[in-house]
Amino acid sequence: MEVSAVRIDDERLPRHIAIVMDGNGRWAKKRFLPRTAGHRAGVTSVRKVIEHCLKRRIEALTLFAFSSENWRRPPQEVSLLMELFLATLERETEKLHENGVRLRVIGDRVAFSPALQEKIAAGERLTSENTHLNLTIAANYGGRWDILQATRALAEKVARGELCPEDIGPDAFKLQLTLADLPEPDLFIRTGGEQRISNFLLWQLAYTELYFTPALWPDFDDQSLDQALKDYASRQRRFGYTSEQVEDLVSENVCTKTSEFR
Ligand code: IPE
Ligand code: IPE
Ligand code: MG
Repeated sequence: MEVSAVRIDDERLPRHIAIVMDGNGRWAKKRFLPRTAGHRAGVTSVRKVIEHCLKRRIEALTLFAFSSENWRRPPQEVSLLMELFLATLERETEKLHENGVRLRVIGDRVAFSPALQEKIAAGERLTSENTHLNLTIAANYGGRWDILQATRALAEKVARGELCPEDIGPDAFKLQLTLADLPEPDLFIRTGGEQRISNFLLWQLAYTELYFTPALWPDFDDQSLDQALKDYASRQRRFGYTSEQVEDLVSENVCTKTSEFR
């Protein structure tokens, strides 16, 4: 049986998947190609994973494309990544729209060229009413930046007298974060073999199931994603409850999806 034909009960699928797409450079190096060839090849994996999420009716997919620390890379590599981002948006936005994908970009976009900022805004506008898949691209994104911008927004509200410090709890805080309207990621995937978060969604990953694979991002496809989904489906999420409590919640039908316990 083909792995892509794997059956996973809908209620055991994650609602939100977050991916650190790592290993492009090593993929290229193995082939004696420049690192930039790995980034180009990585775009194909992005397309495949989006298509597979649509097929599996996943609600949200968040992809880490460029971290706030990636500016430290050689200038030619950074330029190529920016060009690739712009060219991919130009080529793919219409197709995303036709497929009902809602596109959003999170991160500090002030650092991007005006042309890229415009493309991002146009893509977000065009797809804003779509409901099939919430696709978020994290670019010039850092989890610490996200927490800081939320803190600043709350501090400004307090300074304006619109909010009391006592009213700042987890819910009020979450509302200021970039992914406020989405369920927190259920499944975190990192390709490339490293086992770290690298400043991705720090607040939002508190109870996310972590999955690390040695597969390099350009080699990651629908079958690799199904492997991750299968692994996720086999886990019991507890959110601090005991295993027995979770089993009771499931049998009482209090929660229909494993992601709904919290
Ligand atoms: C991930 O691949 C892409 C970005 C960070 C933009 P890398 O470029 O980090 O690939 P490796 O880790 O060097 O193999
Ligand atoms: C994380 O990968 C960022 C992205 C995939 C965009 P890195 O390759 O930059 O992470 P580190 O530097 O190995 O932690
Ligand atoms: Mg890397």
